[in-house]
Amino acid sequence: MIQIQCTGCQKKYSIPEEKIPKGKTLDLPCPACKTVIRIQTDASPEPVAEAPPEDTVPGNELMMKIVKASKALPPMPQIIAKATEVLSSDKAGFKEVGEVLATDQAMATRVLKLANSAYYGRTTPVSSVQQASALLGFQTLLELITVVSTSKMMGKRLEGYGIEAEGVWRHSLLVAMGAKMIAQKRNPDLVNDAFNAGLIHDSGMLILDDYVVEKRAAVEDILGNGKAIQNAERQIFGFDHGEIAAEFFKRWKLPETQLHAIRHHHEPSASGGDMLCYILHVADDMANREHTEKNFVFDPDALAAIGLSAEETDAMLEEVREAVNHIMASMG
Ligand SMILES: [Fe+2]
Ligand SMILES: [Fe+2]
Repeated sequence: MIQIQCTGCQKKYSIPEEKIPKGKTLDLPCPACKTVIRIQTDASPEPVAEAPPEDTVPGNELMMKIVKASKALPPMPQIIAKATEVLSSDKAGFKEVGEVLATDQAMATRVLKLANSAYYGRTTPVSSVQQASALLGFQTLLELITVVSTSKMMGKRLEGYGIEAEGVWRHSLLVAMGAKMIAQKRNPDLVNDAFNAGLIHDSGMLILDDYVVEKRAAVEDILGNGKAIQNAERQIFGFDHGEIAAEFFKRWKLPETQLHAIRHHHEPSASGGDMLCYILHVADDMANREHTEKNFVFDPDALAAIGLSAEETDAMLEEVREAVNHIMASMG
């Protein structure tokens, strides 16, 4: 077997020796990212060395180093930690979540403002956290808390990627709302995971931004050749923003199902057929009609994987945009 590695997405492949003609140059498109992999063989081919185990791959070492040093994302907000604990422990924990919220008046005020926005708002104005929970339900209250507590984190300008703060936040909300609506339609059990993963799916860009600034010329070169941003990251760093975000959020103890979907959000075919990952990818494609992520590549099998038509996602996008406009307007 001859081991080859794609210079675009870093995937490794094994090819039987007899399939490669001796003394010839062979250009093969990478099945994953379509980068052309050139294989040159002498009269007596020299096999490339066996790939090292994953934890010693240089890209992986660099990723761990960056995650460790990262100050781009805060530690897990206490309120989210409490909400996650309550959700996973299966007990009605509104009281505990309410108590944590009561210790942060600024956040409670923002949550109530959002609860009264045109998207969440009901005819009766909501004036207390208890009332919000009673009128909107505990799940929706948690959604409001998640939006408010991540808005600061996901609303930062990305200099290296060339995206303004408002663009980053809008994209995050579009993917969160899109993923939530798709899950409501196709797999209601995934609604909560879809919303949360959607909101932070691109936070790896926040972690990588300073490094992308340093490599801006190389990144632009790769993008200029029509490659997607994740291909540029993999080529330069050995991993992409989905992988580094998933690694970072292990610290937040997010459920593995969310980490897995975030890790593969640009390449759902590598997720082992994970439904949440396909939902995230389709929501990302819908949101990227505003071109936030450069040269976004849509997996042609993704719609079939979640059982939606292009017409359905088009109609859904209108609804998603309206919801996001209302949420952004109410948050100022
Ligand atoms: Fe992304
Ligand atoms: Fe995205």
